[in-house]
Amino acid sequence: MPDRLPATMRQWVLARRPDGLAVVEDFGLVTVGVPEIDDGQALLRTLYLGVAPVMLRYMTNETSFEKPLEIGDVMIGRGVGRVVASRNPAFRVGEIYQAKLGWREYAVIDDSPYFMAYRMRHTDLALSHGVSSLAMSGFTALVGMREICAAGPGDRVLVSGAAGGVGSQAGFIARALGADPVVGVAGGPDKCRLLTERLGYGAAIDYKNDDVPARLDELFPDGIDVFFDNVGGELLDEVMGRIRRRARIAVCGRISEYLLPVEEYHRHRNLWRIGLLDAKIEGFFIYDFVAGFDEFEDRLAEWIRDGRIEPLEDILEGLEQMPAALISLYEGTNAGVRMVRIDPDAERRPAP
Ligand SMILES: NC(=O)c1ccc[n+]([C@@H]2O[C@H](COP(=O)([O-])OP(=O)(O)OC[C@H]3O[C@@H](n4cnc5c(N)ncnc54)[C@H](OP(=O)(O)O)[C@@H]3O)[C@@H](O)[C@H]2O)c1
Repeated sequence: MPDRLPATMRQWVLARRPDGLAVVEDFGLVTVGVPEIDDGQALLRTLYLGVAPVMLRYMTNETSFEKPLEIGDVMIGRGVGRVVASRNPAFRVGEIYQAKLGWREYAVIDDSPYFMAYRMRHTDLALSHGVSSLAMSGFTALVGMREICAAGPGDRVLVSGAAGGVGSQAGFIARALGADPVVGVAGGPDKCRLLTERLGYGAAIDYKNDDVPARLDELFPDGIDVFFDNVGGELLDEVMGRIRRRARIAVCGRISEYLLPVEEYHRHRNLWRIGLLDAKIEGFFIYDFVAGFDEFEDRLAEWIRDGRIEPLEDILEGLEQMPAALISLYEGTNAGVRMVRIDPDAERRPAP
């Protein structure tokens, strides 16, 4: 039975452009009617919404890949939703999709490339995984570690931002691919404990309290083969100073520089070692790997089932938490994939 639809729903819009890190007043929570669908469209009940550091740059139209956001537009973001009405045979009522739903309780989508609607197939697992391991953060960790870095047996691996959404999975994946040691970098003793006790890392470096160069020397006396970098800046430079021959560096993110003007970006002293050591450094964007999403989901679901990946999800409750969820990413208070449960019954399955 399709859900009975309410007359109204809530959604977050961009109220003004942030100056540096966003504040709650940059967002507006408004109530609108639940939209009707036209031919070709489907209506989804939002179950979970993810937040990602890049969303701050959507608010200032600083990305090349996302449509410009005007004041009053619904905030852009991906999440997991259940199809509750459809006038498109590609979407069947009851199916679970991850897509660009926007920050709202119900979303109208279609099968155009913009929404990047992708049906979640392993729905026996928690549907929240449709925002974490079986979604962009898990896919990004897999692509960076397997496709870009080709991590495998014999590789000494380092991951920065290791307790965040992507990093909390990159360590498990490196180990599943046979790498050893796998070391994570995170801020503070609690997160470092989490890395070694919960997230499968063999050792941790606390970039806020440790002497990072000394710890790198201690943990990688023979150098680093693979660096999965979420952070950029000075740490990347220190790592380039310690790479082994034919090392691979995946530039997944540069969160340490997202709030800085370009003139203040770190100027790398050790880039020359990439050429000297026949190494590679490569940026990548997960949306360029859409063709692989089915295989990524299958592989990651298999590793969740056999215990090689234990997703760590940091779930806030209720649509009203969306701005705080995003802002806190920059304060580093999340551990694992931060998301917001929009439907309190999100994990409910239809009666057989
Ligand atoms: N290439 C792609 O296609 C792709 C896809 C998804 C995400 N990304 C990028 O990957 C990175 C991680 O994303 P995510 O979703 O895992 O983010 P996340 O869950 O928000 O994790 C980010 C973590 O970065 C750390 N951090 C924040 N500011 C920092 C700073 N100034 N210096 C060092 N660490 C800092 C914080 O942990 P600490 O407490 O340890 O500081 C925070 O928990 C981001 O840069 C994101 O833009 C790229």
